[in-house]
Amino acid sequence: MALLLSGKRILLGISGGIAAYKSADLIRRLKERGAEVRVIQTDAACEFITPLTLQALSGHPVANSLLDPAAEAAMGHIELAKWADLLLIAPASADLIARLAHGLANDLLSTCVLATDAPVAVAPAMNQQMYKNIATKHNIDTLKTRNFYIWGPAAGEQACGDVGMGRMLEPLQLVDLVLEHFAPKVLPLEGVSLVITAGPTREPIDPVRYISNHSSGKMGFALAEAAVQLGAQVTLIAGPVQLATPAGVKRIDVVTADQMYQVALEQAISAHIFIGCAAVADYKVAQVATQKLKKTSDDSTSLTLVKNPDIIAAVAALTSQRPFTVGFAAETQDVANYARQKLVKKKLDLICANDVSLSNQGFNSEQNALTVFWADGEQQFGLQAKTELAQQLLLLINERYLHEKSH
Ligand code: PMT
Repeated sequence: MALLLSGKRILLGISGGIAAYKSADLIRRLKERGAEVRVIQTDAACEFITPLTLQALSGHPVANSLLDPAAEAAMGHIELAKWADLLLIAPASADLIARLAHGLANDLLSTCVLATDAPVAVAPAMNQQMYKNIATKHNIDTLKTRNFYIWGPAAGEQACGDVGMGRMLEPLQLVDLVLEHFAPKVLPLEGVSLVITAGPTREPIDPVRYISNHSSGKMGFALAEAAVQLGAQVTLIAGPVQLATPAGVKRIDVVTADQMYQVALEQAISAHIFIGCAAVADYKVAQVATQKLKKTSDDSTSLTLVKNPDIIAAVAALTSQRPFTVGFAAETQDVANYARQKLVKKKLDLICANDVSLSNQGFNSEQNALTVFWADGEQQFGLQAKTELAQQLLLLINERYLHEKSH
């Protein structure tokens, strides 16, 4: 039977501190769960627990010196850093944490931290006053900003007789955190398929002219990218925009509202959620000229426009295989009111009201702010990068979708 940590390679870094004796038990517990463990000790750690003990428990020679030709010949420090799936430092002394925060590479362990692309978890262990020291706090915060995991410390009685925060977590607590780290993650949108429309549509007047709008596609593309990152399967129906396709997204390019309508209805019936973020032209030219229109001597001219099909209303009106349908409402005045009216008129499940009268959000901006309305609720999202907004909005959409599905 495969154990929970079978095949996982854990490089255990041990720095100097009384808690180093617990590392022996930690190695045993990790190995019991199937992990392969190799150990690096700092010089100070060797004063607290012998390399021989750790070698016996891990089944491998313990690495200590950066300048040991024999050790480098066996498994050099770069190889060791590359070998690890996780670099766990337990105990991590205040001194080691300070060196890591400064990016030093003045012994084997700190060098491996710089040389690895594996996640690094740090289990602090030190006197409570040292832990409270602003310098240590600052160093730990620095490591957090570099995506180090900080596991612990715990509070309690310390070897020196003090009581407070600074005890290393117990080996079994660290093992639980290692298990959690390696547990397969279920993403919130896993198993959910989305169709998203983005960008403008372009309605031809003649072979060289068209009617369109300022939509850049950024909001819709940000939604597509975030949805994939959250685990969804995404089909992006894009009007004419200059944006790269986000990784993992199936993209279908269209130009006119009629084309978007056709593709959207084909795709919508196999989606759980449909998001109409595109700025679809409400009207198209009744008769597209086959040749370039010539300027006449008249001071004015006119075009006859006819309505385009309403894509999102058609999706929302599907009687079978209807996806949870989310619209956007781009408004320049009375935003909430008009958005609510569109929610009802188009029979949508949710609408994202977008005030496009402001120059720093909406059309062709990197940022956006939205108020989302549904039948009996609303939620505001403040001005922020479209990429971040997309993540938050999708979590709300998914929450509402799951709510509807369960009723
Ligand atoms: O693309 P960006 O530069 O990033 O800008 C983003 C955005 C401002 C375009 C976007 O956030 C937005 O607000 N999109 C909706 C724009 C719009 O056309 O709003 P509307 O109020 O005209 O349409 C309401 C809803 O009906 C929308 O979901 C729209 O996609 C849909 N619609 C409209 C007309 C039509 N014929 N068919 C439709 O499906």
